[in-house]
Amino acid sequence: MKFSTKAIHAGQEPDIATGAVMPPVYLTSTFVHDELGKDKGYTYSRVSNPTRTALEKNIAALESASEGMAFASGMAAIDALFRILEPGSHVIMSKDVYGGTYRLAVRVFAPFGTEFDFVDTSDWEAIKRARRPNTKMIFIETPANPMMTLTDLSAVAHYAKKEKILTVADNTFATPYLQRPIEFGIDIVLHSVTKYLNGHSDMIGGFIATNNGEVAHRIRFIQKAAGAVMSPFDAWMCLRGTKTLSVRMDRHCANAEAIAAWLVEQPGIRAVFYPGLKTHPQHQLAKKQMSGFGGMITFDTGSLASAKKILRRMQLCALAESLGGVETLIAHPATMSHVGLPKAERIANGITDGLLRLSVGIEDVEDIRNDLHFALTGIR
Ligand SMILES: Cc1ncc(COP(=O)(O)O)c(C=O)c1O
Repeated sequence: MKFSTKAIHAGQEPDIATGAVMPPVYLTSTFVHDELGKDKGYTYSRVSNPTRTALEKNIAALESASEGMAFASGMAAIDALFRILEPGSHVIMSKDVYGGTYRLAVRVFAPFGTEFDFVDTSDWEAIKRARRPNTKMIFIETPANPMMTLTDLSAVAHYAKKEKILTVADNTFATPYLQRPIEFGIDIVLHSVTKYLNGHSDMIGGFIATNNGEVAHRIRFIQKAAGAVMSPFDAWMCLRGTKTLSVRMDRHCANAEAIAAWLVEQPGIRAVFYPGLKTHPQHQLAKKQMSGFGGMITFDTGSLASAKKILRRMQLCALAESLGGVETLIAHPATMSHVGLPKAERIANGITDGLLRLSVGIEDVEDIRNDLHFALTGIR
């Protein structure tokens, strides 16, 4: 089956009881046992739920994975992932991961003994240099948040396999439509489902996909033990989203490519970060490992004052956290997604006060461009 067909059909057989084409929302906490020790495959919804199972099979298939686990949020999924490591383990992470991932690592797990190093994984050999005897996991985000840097998936996977280190790729920005890390040899794929996979800014969710049975077994145990699972209703909402993923992503990509090319020409804009631009330092890598460049663009307005002026004049594009919905959102990484990073680290990573991040939606591109054009006249 090809991607768009899988998105609509994988994990979604008609309901056995009624023939309903859409998987029903199984709003139930518990399931009747036929007799002691005999059930129909479901016992309690923290452990598993048929609507969640439908989504888990669906997204796993899209990521070329055999196993999928849906969580209450992207952060809950990352939390479960770090918990599979023994205290004293060392993790190498992309230096420009999402600010919440950094916060969870440094403020929650480090005090319990997990060690983290944040390196520029766009130079994948930096991973080799950061390696310690106790390195157990390499966690990359590509494209990364918000500077749109890429990491070479197959180079990292190849190295880590030799060294028996688990690899994780946060694939939230690209989605499996544009990039499937497991096909490059990465062990575990992670998502904030809140973003493109759901696509409508109306639920929060996370996901882990893998072909590694042992990892899946441990993650499922953590889900059952700690309970940060996705609700049946959210799983159902997300299934509506995944069905249209390919058509939405095609439009996100087309709109973002047009907006990025236009932004580059605008006076007052110091730099535009988008993997689809020929000037992006990793444009060739993007072409190699992604089938489209995505809907996320970051641009430098030069100062906080300019960023503020632009934001005040935006009318269509909404100032809001998050990304990946059908509507265009604009955010200020320094005070929003990356506020969890200490200032020195933030600046060192290029996240200056003048930076703005666009999640380009699927509206008519002329309307997005006109809105930006009007806002940018504020700094001319
Ligand atoms: C790349 C990335 N990973 C993980 C997360 C966390 O996901 P959630 O907000 O669903 O907990 C986010 C949230 O913005 C993100 O952008």
